[in-house]
Amino acid sequence: MSGLLIRPITAADWGPVEAIYREGIATGNATFETNPPTWPAFDSGKLALGRLLAVDAADSVIGWVAASAVSSREVYRGVVEHSVYVANRARGRGVGAALLDAFLRAADDDGVWTVQSSIFPENPASLALHDRAGFRRVGHRERIALMTYGPWAGQWRDTILVERRHPR
Ligand SMILES: CC(C)(COP(=O)(O)OP(=O)(O)OC[C@H]1O[C@@H](n2cnc3c(N)ncnc32)[C@H](O)[C@@H]1OP(=O)(O)O)[C@@H](O)C(=O)NCCC(=O)NCCS
Repeated sequence: MSGLLIRPITAADWGPVEAIYREGIATGNATFETNPPTWPAFDSGKLALGRLLAVDAADSVIGWVAASAVSSREVYRGVVEHSVYVANRARGRGVGAALLDAFLRAADDDGVWTVQSSIFPENPASLALHDRAGFRRVGHRERIALMTYGPWAGQWRDTILVERRHPR
């Protein structure tokens, strides 16, 4: 997409970031979460590292990426789990790939050695996005958690765990 700009997320961006999060939740194939968090919860739960959004040529927010630590144990300080969301109106135009590439550069620069995510098998866009970015499919987790909303409500769902190791 021409005119795409990637920059850090600030508190002032929370409105559009939350709206894009909500669009992803509505697909039923992005997350087990039923609602976006509040800004304070997002702000305290996500690492400062690679907390980025994408804006289009009109300065409209069209996507975001952020990560959280997988463990509070020191030994796992370089292992993070990320989320990437693109606005409905901007999907399929390279925004997710640009966000993920920028996030991975920031993670590499920060000494992160493993980036991981869990993806529903019914989310081909996310699987393609991560395959393309060099993630490996570690395993298929069967009936890992119960979906509580949307078209999958009441069903135990599988996820595919993907990870990308820092290039040596
Ligand atoms: C998953 C998501 C972030 C992808 O972002 P995007 O901007 O639409 O993806 P891109 O346009 O950058 O495409 C990245 C790759 O995925 C492929 N792709 C995109 N949409 C696809 C689809 N529906 N089916 C199959 N492949 C798809 C593209 O062809 C591209 O691969 P290529 O470079 O080999 O051609 C976006 O669809 C989204 O926000 N979905 C809702 C939230 C979500 O599911 N987040 C992920 C949670 S794990």
